[in-house]
Order: sequence, then C-alpha cells, then structure tokens
Amino acid sequence: MNKTIFAISGSLRSGSSNHNILKFLGTMAPADVDYTIYNNLAQIPPFDPGLDNDTPPETVTELRNFITHADAVIICTPEYAFGVPGQLKNALDWLVSSSTLVDKPVALITASSVGNNAHAALLLTLGALSANVIEEATLLIPFIRAKMDNAGNITDEPTKKELENVFNRLLTQL
Ligand SMILES: Cc1cc2nc3c(=O)[nH]c(=O)nc-3n(C[C@H](O)[C@H](O)[C@H](O)COP(=O)(O)O)c2cc1C
Repeated sequence: MNKTIFAISGSLRSGSSNHNILKFLGTMAPADVDYTIYNNLAQIPPFDPGLDNDTPPETVTELRNFITHADAVIICTPEYAFGVPGQLKNALDWLVSSSTLVDKPVALITASSVGNNAHAALLLTLGALSANVIEEATLLIPFIRAKMDNAGNITDEPTKKELENVFNRLLTQL
C-alpha cells in the first residue's frame, strides 16, 4: 500500500511562497507515496473548546482524518506579526484533544521574511501536541520572496538543496 504525506501551508494567499514550496516538494515524491496538499485551511472554524466534543465541525473531522491516515505531515508557513499565522494556529488547537499528531513524523518549514519567532513558536506547539518533529526535517528559510521567481519557482540553489534534504529525511520516516 502507498505511503501518504499530508502537507499544510500556513498561508492562505493565492500564489503563496509556502504553497509553492509544498508543490516543489511534491515533485520529489516517489511513485509509491501519495502526496496531498491541504486546501481547506480557510474553512476551519474558530477553535471553541465547547464544540470540541464527539461531533466537532465537519471540516475539523476531515482535517483530523487526513492527518490520522497520513504517515507523515509537512507544515510550511510564513510568520505574521512575529507569530504563527492565526488560521494555522487555530487548526492546530483543534488537534490537541484528538491526539491526532501524537508521534506523527512532522517536517516543519518556516519560509518568511525572517520567520524565527513563528518557527520557535511552532516547535513549542508541536511539542505540546507530542508530534514527532524530525530535527533534520526542520528548516527556516528567511528572505523567501528573494529566493523565488514570479512564477513561484525556487531560484536559490542552496534553498532547493536544503528542501530536498528535508524531504528525503522525512521519507526515511515513512
Ligand atoms: C500582515 C503581515 C505580517 C507579516 N509579518 C511578518 C513577520 O512578523 N515576520 C516575517 O518574517 N515576515 C512577516 N511578513 C512577511 C511574510 O513573511 C511574507 O509576506 C511571506 O512571503 C508570506 O508567505 P507566503 O508568500 O507564503 O504568503 C508579514 C506579512 C504580512 C502580510
């Protein structure tokens, strides 16, 4: 049976650099690996512990199912206002009670202007979720916009190489 990687972009922006990074990683997926980029992050409702019961919102159940059935997860995100983009953090909050990410191999890429605050905060959050963050599959890419052309291709060769390393390292966890 094929292995599965589920990828989440923390940016909702059309033409997002982070989304383009995830597309680039997808081109490296071997034939026996199903690679899916999540496209419903914007539809996740605001986290409400009062609704986090046996019948949570449908989009939340769908997200949990995607992650449960994935052999590994990639999170690729920018930083906003020195923090994690709100909609990504919101989605992660919905994952706490379900234990969906417990022991799940996770690659974390923060691609932003600077990004170190969001990267550090996400490592803490993923720790709280008991995810198995693969150290060699974590990558902070500053000045991301200068490393891509207008079509979303990564033009910076060292960055491409680092991304390849992250992806190959994650593949060893499948
Ligand atoms: C509202 C806003 C706040 C931002 N704040 C930060 C920040 O604190 N740190 C940073 O590194 N980049 C910041 N940026 C720049 C983003 O990292 C940059 O626009 C990045 O390309 C967004 O990712 P995307 O291309 O995947 O949408 C901010 C951008 C926006 C729109």
